[in-house]
Amino acid sequence: MIELETIKKYIQNPDTLSYPCIFYSEAVIKQNIALLDDFLKKLTGKKEVQKYFSCKANPNATLVSFIYNQGFGLDVSSEREFTFALSLGIETKSITVSGPAKQDHFIERLILSEIKALHIDSIDEANFIKYFLETYKKDLKTNFTLRVNVDENSNKLGVSIEQLSECLIRYPFISGIHFYLGREKFSKKRLDQELQKISSAIAPHRKLTFSIGLGLSLADLEINQITICELLSNHECSFEMGRVILETAGVYLAKILSIKKQKDFLATDVIIDGGIQHLASSLIDFKRKIPADVVFFKKSSGELVSGEDQANIYGSLCLSSDLLAIVDNFSRELKRGDIVYFYPCGAYNINASPSNFIMQNLASEYFIHNGEIVKV
Ligand SMILES: Cc1ncc(COP(=O)(O)O)c(C=O)c1O
Repeated sequence: MIELETIKKYIQNPDTLSYPCIFYSEAVIKQNIALLDDFLKKLTGKKEVQKYFSCKANPNATLVSFIYNQGFGLDVSSEREFTFALSLGIETKSITVSGPAKQDHFIERLILSEIKALHIDSIDEANFIKYFLETYKKDLKTNFTLRVNVDENSNKLGVSIEQLSECLIRYPFISGIHFYLGREKFSKKRLDQELQKISSAIAPHRKLTFSIGLGLSLADLEINQITICELLSNHECSFEMGRVILETAGVYLAKILSIKKQKDFLATDVIIDGGIQHLASSLIDFKRKIPADVVFFKKSSGELVSGEDQANIYGSLCLSSDLLAIVDNFSRELKRGDIVYFYPCGAYNINASPSNFIMQNLASEYFIHNGEIVKV
């Protein structure tokens, strides 16, 4: 949980908050970055490791600028994210671009902007870049890395390992390899195996950089468990990440609208003023199924209230499938207007949600800095 005392202070004062809302903790973001730095240093054996924040994890302007100012570059996945990054004053040499959504004019714009790296996602993209570079003929600083698919269940993203060596011959402008291990699928063993497969497919004389999305969750940063990766220690490498920085730094607060207790049902049904239209995958966690923590506050006093009743917590869509959590700490003292707190919810929230479904207002966002909140 994050800064409960601060949150309580603001809940008590009904005029200061607009619900539903998301709080982000600066202190937790900093802690997560410190853990991440130690982890990456140990993994690579390097003193400094280049990191890129994945904009798609949360494009809140204050958060992106804050993380950038902590020494990160930014990884974007669409032209709109790119334009947004520039509007925040992020330098093009600190921007990488990944993902399969790059139209011709966007690729041209990226190359001419001399971004740090363009992660090529397909042979079609590589062919277009080849054609563009041959036509343009000037030396530009953009680096080109080729995404290799490491997902056993889908060919969608990147090229296959079998296509790799041919691509490196056909596209001499490629100077690096890019891959994403998948959401929370990191293990050191798996990373070593994928790197081994990739390096066996590369001619020994070709020195390439590695740009890797490890798909880390905070639990993966267990520093004692991690050992050095020899291959990365010998190559220029960088990492991009999203959830590991922000997921545990955010909480979502919404008001209770209705409490339905029916005698034939064991659990109480609670409907809140919010739900998957603000939280998408961070709340409906496909791995854990329910969020790690759901607690309740009295709106009048800001006090935490805990009981022993089972309750289904539903969002406010006109569907019975927007079940957000099943809890066993619901209290009969709770009433319409009291507050539900979901944790962790800092990554892939509003931007990854069906936010126009029933057209409820977007959740308000607040940044907790030194015990005070700022609307962001
Ligand atoms: C290529 C790539 N890099 C990085 C990320 C960020 O992943 P995470 O939030 O798991 O760190 C993603 C997420 O989908 C991705 O597709």
